[in-house]
Amino acid sequence: MQTYQIAVLKGDGIGPEIVEQAMKVLTKAGQKFGFAVQFQQALLGGAAIDADGVPLPQKTVDICKAADSTLLGAVGGPKWDGQPGSNRPEKGLLGIRSALGLFANLRPAVIFPELKSASPLKDEIIGDNLDVLIVRELIGGIYFGERGRCIENGQEAAYDTEKYSVPEIERIVRVGFQMAMKRRKKMCSVDKANVLESSRLWRATVQRLSKEYPEVEVSYMYVDNCAMQLVRNPRQFDVIVTSNMFGDILSDEASMISGSIGMLASASLNDTKCGLYEPIHGSAPDIAGTGKANPLATVLSAAMMLRYSLDQPQAADAIEAAVSNALTKGRTCDIAGKGLPVLSCSEMGDLVCSLL
Ligand code: NAD
Ligand code: IPM
Ligand code: MN
Repeated sequence: MQTYQIAVLKGDGIGPEIVEQAMKVLTKAGQKFGFAVQFQQALLGGAAIDADGVPLPQKTVDICKAADSTLLGAVGGPKWDGQPGSNRPEKGLLGIRSALGLFANLRPAVIFPELKSASPLKDEIIGDNLDVLIVRELIGGIYFGERGRCIENGQEAAYDTEKYSVPEIERIVRVGFQMAMKRRKKMCSVDKANVLESSRLWRATVQRLSKEYPEVEVSYMYVDNCAMQLVRNPRQFDVIVTSNMFGDILSDEASMISGSIGMLASASLNDTKCGLYEPIHGSAPDIAGTGKANPLATVLSAAMMLRYSLDQPQAADAIEAAVSNALTKGRTCDIAGKGLPVLSCSEMGDLVCSLL
């Protein structure tokens, strides 16, 4: 039987609760579709700081590199907010993304029809089958640029720099084009080319590459306008390709279209099959340990893992169908529906398993 080695980084806050549900679902999917999964846990973020003093121990990198794929919860929390920037839990997350070369982050904002009423947007704005894919550059830009503190005019100052090279832009933009080719053949490149030099190089690169993808209808939008258009008329978008920071912000915004940030999954990919899969939300310290966390973003990230890394598209489809079905039977409180039981995080995981 095919056996997959999955590195598991539960992280902090709600991380352990949500990841456990995704592990249950992956195991159940394996039983149904004839494969086995072996999980190897490793520390990341605050949990790693507490155990080893650093947010990304080398052992964690080694375990992820040796695995077929990595499943991640979330990192961070008030306990570690006093850490210096170089030793914060989030630095561990950026470190593992970079160590694995995961330059392409796919964040699909999809609305399950059952959840239309959970979205703050009106029905006629959401329409049917809303499906926007945000392709976010993940290991460059201001997140990884030079930063520091200095003294300016006798006053303390700080700086962070946004820098993108042409190869860095090309590889992520190509992912955007390739995704668009498999979808509705529309790609919107989002930047701030009216102000930022890095955005002007980004836009020029997209324009040049667009000649190689004549079937794709390309548009350009400034990020501030895009933030507005996502709530005014999200259906105008198919694929959005954008930089690290803009993609971070726009994907949290887009998640609410789908009803809750607890619904939005992601895949982080490099040129190999070995990806990292995580929900887009954080460690939600405000609800950690209460059982209120919605595990579906993590469960749907596991489905993306089956599709993009493990060549099990049928199992991925089955998980997505089970999630859709589960939404008609019970919900966590972030997406509570009239007349439906409110489920805890683990009850939701069990429900998805039972419907698989
Ligand atoms: P957050 O995403 O953790 O929480 C924002 C809000 O959404 C909170 O009210 C939270 O309760 C809610 N929420 C998030 N996920 C939910 C879920 N699955 N179910 C129900 N509700 C959910 O963002 P934040 O509060 O800005 O950040 C908290 C910590 O998480 C910070 O330390 C931050 O750096 C970290 N963070 C980590 C990641 C990651 O590991 N990928 C992502 C974002 C934020
Ligand atoms: C995300 C998170 C991370 C990011 C943080 C925690 C470093 O917000 O995955 O969206 O900004 O990439
Ligand atoms: Mn984010």
